[in-house]
Amino acid sequence: MALKIGVVGTGNMGQYHIQRLATSISNAQVVALSDVDVEQAKRVAEAAGEARVYSDGHQLIGDDEVEAVIVASPGFTHEEYTLACIAAGKPVLCEKPLAPTTDACLRVLDAEAGRSDRLVQVGFMRRYDDGYRAMKASLDAGHVGSPLLMHCAHRNPAPPPGFTSDMMLTDSVVHEIDVSRWLLGQEIIAATVFTPRRSSLAAEPLQDPQLVLLETDGGVLIDVESFVSCQYGYDIRCELVGESGTVALPDQVGVRLRQEGRSSTEVPADWRSRFAPAYHAELQEWVDGVLRGEITGPSAWDGYATTAVAERCVEALETGRRAVVDLAERPELYD
Ligand SMILES: NC(=O)c1ccc[n+]([C@@H]2O[C@H](COP(=O)([O-])OP(=O)(O)OC[C@H]3O[C@@H](n4cnc5c(N)ncnc54)[C@H](O)[C@@H]3O)[C@@H](O)[C@H]2O)c1
Repeated sequence: MALKIGVVGTGNMGQYHIQRLATSISNAQVVALSDVDVEQAKRVAEAAGEARVYSDGHQLIGDDEVEAVIVASPGFTHEEYTLACIAAGKPVLCEKPLAPTTDACLRVLDAEAGRSDRLVQVGFMRRYDDGYRAMKASLDAGHVGSPLLMHCAHRNPAPPPGFTSDMMLTDSVVHEIDVSRWLLGQEIIAATVFTPRRSSLAAEPLQDPQLVLLETDGGVLIDVESFVSCQYGYDIRCELVGESGTVALPDQVGVRLRQEGRSSTEVPADWRSRFAPAYHAELQEWVDGVLRGEITGPSAWDGYATTAVAERCVEALETGRRAVVDLAERPELYD
């Protein structure tokens, strides 16, 4: 009894999920694909085995055989597809962001919050990373005492074409926003963005690096370095400082090479190699949860709160001032 899945959007992320569903996820079958680029969707369908192809995502969501949907089209399309899934009563794993604006996220919350069960999960896969999970287990077990500070770094060797200073916040730092809310179990209430000297290696006019300071409702301060032209590799760091100790992500797994008087480990080239096991766990746990009738991953509320903080980060970057996050009241469904 495999879960029959339809995937909207067959670009980078869609293909990444489809390939995994077709090869290594248990109890899942991709039965339908949709993309505005139908020829691309047809090529992906052939590679993935038998799957129907639609040019319109709404037709895929309305396909009676499709039991659950993955939305991997661009962020501006997420609201309409997620709302259509809720209206059809179908579970949906929506890639981040839930939607690019808080108003759009609130419309999704409004549509889901009246239900007795959740349908929406947002693709914040860091919560499925072994390192972050071990950090959370350690913090929750009281190993480091009450949290005070978090230090994070999000470094990419080079930005993709068209990447902007705002996207360093809305596409990159958004992962630290989600994972720090989850680790701490606290909401972020304010953001300030500092801009040091631009790297001479950053593409014009990118303000790179940036330093983001986030404040939580529990009094914790979180600093996040966002540096997308760091040259040397994809490097994600996180250390949590508590009253009686600290807990941090481990150094990269893999062999340690000792050679010619040096000892070294590899730095991952990109987010795919760094977080591949987390993407796998995210998908497998979502499939298992949907089959059990229980969705436990990042919720529409998490998607909303994260977009709300990212929006204020962009405001703080533009104004150079501290921006206050004003969250709506959290519906009971998300308690
Ligand atoms: N969780 C993560 O770590 C992570 C990583 C990368 C991307 N993403 C997210 O995944 C989503 C897709 O990103 P991507 O890198 O795959 O982009 P992409 O441009 O490679 O692919 C998007 C695909 O959607 C199609 N599309 C455009 N409009 C559409 C519509 N209205 N209906 C259906 N299909 C449509 C495009 O033709 C394209 O094939 C984005 O929201 C992005 O933020 C998440």
